[in-house]
Amino acid sequence: MDLRIKQTKKLQGTLTVPGDKSISHRAIMLGAIATGTTEVTGFLMGQDCLSTVDCFRKLGINIAIDNSRVKIEGKGLDGLKEPVDILDVGNSGTTIRLISGILAGQDFTSFLTGDQSIRKRPMARITKPLTEMGAEIIGRQNGNLAPLAIKGGNLKKIKYTTPVASAQVKSSILLAGLYAEGWTEITEPIKSRNHTELMLKSFGAQVEEDDITNTVRVKGRPELVGGEIKVPGDISSAAFFLTAGAIIPEGSLTITNVGLNPTRTGIIDVLEEMGAQIKVFNKQKTTGEVIGDIKIESSSLKGIKIGGEMIPRLIDEIPILAVAASCASGVTEIRNAEELKVKESNRLAAIARELNKLGAKIEELPDGLKIYGGQTLKGTICDSYDDHRIAMALAIAGLVAQGETIIKNSDIIDVSFPNFTKTLQKLTNTNSLITNFLNQELDLVFLW
Ligand code: S3P
Repeated sequence: MDLRIKQTKKLQGTLTVPGDKSISHRAIMLGAIATGTTEVTGFLMGQDCLSTVDCFRKLGINIAIDNSRVKIEGKGLDGLKEPVDILDVGNSGTTIRLISGILAGQDFTSFLTGDQSIRKRPMARITKPLTEMGAEIIGRQNGNLAPLAIKGGNLKKIKYTTPVASAQVKSSILLAGLYAEGWTEITEPIKSRNHTELMLKSFGAQVEEDDITNTVRVKGRPELVGGEIKVPGDISSAAFFLTAGAIIPEGSLTITNVGLNPTRTGIIDVLEEMGAQIKVFNKQKTTGEVIGDIKIESSSLKGIKIGGEMIPRLIDEIPILAVAASCASGVTEIRNAEELKVKESNRLAAIARELNKLGAKIEELPDGLKIYGGQTLKGTICDSYDDHRIAMALAIAGLVAQGETIIKNSDIIDVSFPNFTKTLQKLTNTNSLITNFLNQELDLVFLW
């Protein structure tokens, strides 16, 4: 499917964004290995989280879905069954890396695969520590590439220092640590998102976080008890509308019920530093997570430098930040972001290339981007690289680019934001959904 976007001057209103992807995955996984029923509201019905649901159903867990309400009948730490088929994680890095931690603790063998992008992404970062804990894992290129075969059981605790700041790596080891006697410990160079830690604590596990050394410990063999989980809106999805609100001349958007976990709010801090008129209000706590509302108004942005500790706090927002920086005055430099090269696509190369096609001036650096702001963007044909965040970032760029922007292969947006185009249409007050019969493809055209 192609997405067509026309330049717009006005984007106003109040919106919600779909549930947080990271929290939705973890709700299924922890719900499955806890005892009792876990009831989730606000679950993200995106393809990635549905892949997690599918994998746990294959592991013998009953999961009922009614819109974004999900009920998981937990079977306890040792209640999963050997799957009779291959577990397919689709496009989801979180699914394959986190589930591997759980499978490493099982007394059976499982096989994991995913789509083309997943089969290129590095897995040694989890297979190495999980093997050290006692799991037997086979994968292409010495255990670095999926498909993976995991024969689990008899895990022992470890103290592990990971060279990359990654919540997926940290969570994989913490989940495996649930199956080892004693305390399993992981230290990362910079603190990454801590949703696993918070949810484990709320399910009754003993978890200690040391923010000075960036070390997390979990005590093995806990009694996990399921409960209610209210998933807040995903700040990584909100980021597209926050940026749109700031860069569109008559932008004024309020996004309600957004997750504001401090390990995720780098985008708010950076937009503020760039000069955005942004306000956070109605802050409160739900199932251990901070939530609140955010208002943003059209703003004159200026270029800034971003790197170091900030990067893990906005790791998924760098493509949309590149759009904001292209519309800012002056130069923005993003460094220490080499992890972007091993996401769903090489996001540094993809966003630089596609925004440059639209008239931006971006240099790709070995570990980031140098963005010369203030260029006039002009609509053209772009590609999503089959990456949901690249597709949405380009759609927002299309709102400020002169004329019409076409984003090829935009269906991938469903991975994390199923109603993205409808939400955009609502805010621009256009309901023009036009089917292009010539291509036998459904094209969405915004007319205003
Ligand atoms: C995620 C962690 C991040 C992020 C991904 C989701 C998670 O990856 O990019 O979209 O849910 O743990 P890394 O922690 O590997 O950087």
